[in-house]
Amino acid sequence: MRKPFVAGNWKMNKTAEEATALVKEMLPELQSVAAVERVLCPPFTSLMIVSALLTGTGLGTGAQNMHWEAQGAFTGEVSPRMVKEFCQYVILGHSERRTYFAETDALINKKIKAALEVALTPIFCIGETLEENQASRTAEVVIRQVKEGLAGLTQEQAKGIVIAYEPVWAIGTGLAASGTGANAVVKDYIRSTLEEMFGRQVADAVRVLYGGSVTAANASEFFEQPEIDGALVGGASLKPAEFVNIVKAAVR
Ligand code: PGA
Repeated sequence: MRKPFVAGNWKMNKTAEEATALVKEMLPELQSVAAVERVLCPPFTSLMIVSALLTGTGLGTGAQNMHWEAQGAFTGEVSPRMVKEFCQYVILGHSERRTYFAETDALINKKIKAALEVALTPIFCIGETLEENQASRTAEVVIRQVKEGLAGLTQEQAKGIVIAYEPVWAIGTGLAASGTGANAVVKDYIRSTLEEMFGRQVADAVRVLYGGSVTAANASEFFEQPEIDGALVGGASLKPAEFVNIVKAAVR
């Protein structure tokens, strides 16, 4: 049994003051949905305050990125241990990092290993672009991202990670994938690759989320799919009532 999982990716939104107000508005309702693993991922500057607000509530805190080195001369970067001070999770390999900051599969693999070393759970994002989708390259791209992103992990490490399948063409566009379409990608390309790499038990244990224009109106379409265990929510995670309803829809 995989516990449903919903994370809010706030991206580059909210000052610490605004983040505080947003958490306070959503928290009472979110706390009542204990059957779902709930994670908020604010920008770095709000991690300290958000994690303090979430302590003891049953909700987790996640970062949206981090560097792979433990420390050193990397101006502007944040290390795994710094993230670990405030977080249990870290989003890695998000398509915006891949596209705007040239993150490669090999680099994301380094970050995943660095996260696991400090016992942070990676929320590992994969997904094909519109161009790749239209060229029928979804299988090839998604399988490559899983293989290279998770290369060298032990079965034990692989079992604990969370994967988010986020077709790039669905992110922030209002054009979500279909539930059945996303389910097929998760089953045929993601879980099958996990099985090939780590065995059936791991493939069955890993939580796989859908991400890309998830709203309170379409969330159930994804959550009722057998291979989809929750959602990584961008825009809608900034709207309190909307996000609460998405989390509630994830209860099995
Ligand atoms: P969206 O973003 O829900 O705004 O499409 C999802 C994501 O980028 O994780």
